[in-house]
Amino acid sequence: MDPNVRPGNMERISTPALAEKFIAEQIAAIKAQVGDKKVLLALSGGVDSSVVAALLIKAIGKNLVCVHVNHGLLRKGEPEQVIKVFRDEMDANLIYVDAVDRFLDKLAGVKDPETKRKIIGAEFIRVFEEEARKLSDIAFLAQGTIYPDILESKDGVKAHHNVGGLPEDLKFELVEPVKLLFKDEVRVVGKALGLPDNMVYRQPFPGPGLGVRCVGAITRERLEVVREADAILREEFDKNGLAGKVWQYFTVVPDFKSVGVNAQGKRTEGYLVVLRAINTKDAMTATVADIPFALLQHITDRITHEVAGVNRVAFDLTPKPTGTIEWE
Ligand code: XMP
Repeated sequence: MDPNVRPGNMERISTPALAEKFIAEQIAAIKAQVGDKKVLLALSGGVDSSVVAALLIKAIGKNLVCVHVNHGLLRKGEPEQVIKVFRDEMDANLIYVDAVDRFLDKLAGVKDPETKRKIIGAEFIRVFEEEARKLSDIAFLAQGTIYPDILESKDGVKAHHNVGGLPEDLKFELVEPVKLLFKDEVRVVGKALGLPDNMVYRQPFPGPGLGVRCVGAITRERLEVVREADAILREEFDKNGLAGKVWQYFTVVPDFKSVGVNAQGKRTEGYLVVLRAINTKDAMTATVADIPFALLQHITDRITHEVAGVNRVAFDLTPKPTGTIEWE
C-alpha cells in the first residue's frame, strides 16, 4: 500500500469524535516512529504546521523542537500568537528567531516579484538550516504536508515540501502526520486539539507573506502601512461576521504616493491602500466578495485616520481572471 495514497475507505474527518480517534492513532504512530529521538519543525503559525506541532507536543512533548522564523513579513500579532499558544500555553520547546533585519536587508531595492519570492524562500531555508545545525541531536523533520500538496506534486503543479531544499547532510526522515488529510479535516483536528479559532479557521496566507502585498521594492515604512491596514481590515471583518465567510481578504500598498488634502486644507502626499476581498473554491478563479458599502466606508475612514501616511483607500473590483488574487 502506498503510504502517500489516501485509502478509498478512509472516513472524512468531520466530527470531534472522528478527530479524537485520528489524534489517538497519530499519537501512537508518532511514538512508534520516533521513539525517544528529537524532531524538528518549522512552525509558521499557519493551520497545517500548528496542527502538526500540537499533535507532536501531545505525542513527544519537548522532544519536538519548533522553530518559528519571524521574517518581518507576517501579519500583525502573528509571532506573538505563536509564542503565546505554543510556548506559554502548550509548554512547547520553541525557538523564536528574529530574522526581520536579515530578510529586509536582503530585499532592499528588489522590485521584481519573483525575485522577491526567491529571496524570501531561499533566506527562510538558510535561517532554518542554521538553527538545525545548532541542534546536534535531531533525527526527524516534521512537516505540515496535507493531501492536496501530495496530489498537486504528483500532477507536477508544485513541490509539496514546505521545507524543501535543505542540504544533503541535513536530510532527516520525515514525520508528516496530516499528509492524508484535506484542509477541512485538518481544521476539525486542530479544533479538537484545542488550538484557538483564529488559528484553525484562518484564511490562506502566502509564504512570502506581506512581502508580495508591499508592491515593488519593500520599505519598512510601507510594510508597516500594509500591516496596520491589514489589521484594521481583519478586525472589521471579524466584528461584522465576515471573517469565516469571505475566503481571502487583505490590503495591498503600491509603491507610489497619492496626492490628497488634509483637514486643514493642506496638500498631502500619502500612500494608497487597496482593499481586496475575494471568494473562490480552489484559488484558480475568484469572484469579488460583496462587501456592504457602509462597511467599506467605515474601513476607509479608519485606515485614513489611524494609519500614518495614508491618504487614500480603494477597493479592488477585479475577479480572477483577469487579475490574480495577489497583486504581484
Ligand atoms: P494568485 O495571486 O496566484 O493567488 O491568484 C492564488 C492563491 O495563492 C496564494 N499565493 C501564494 N501562496 N506562495 C504561497 O504560499 C506564494 O508565492 C503565493 N502567491 C500567491 C494567494 O494568496 C492565493 O491564496
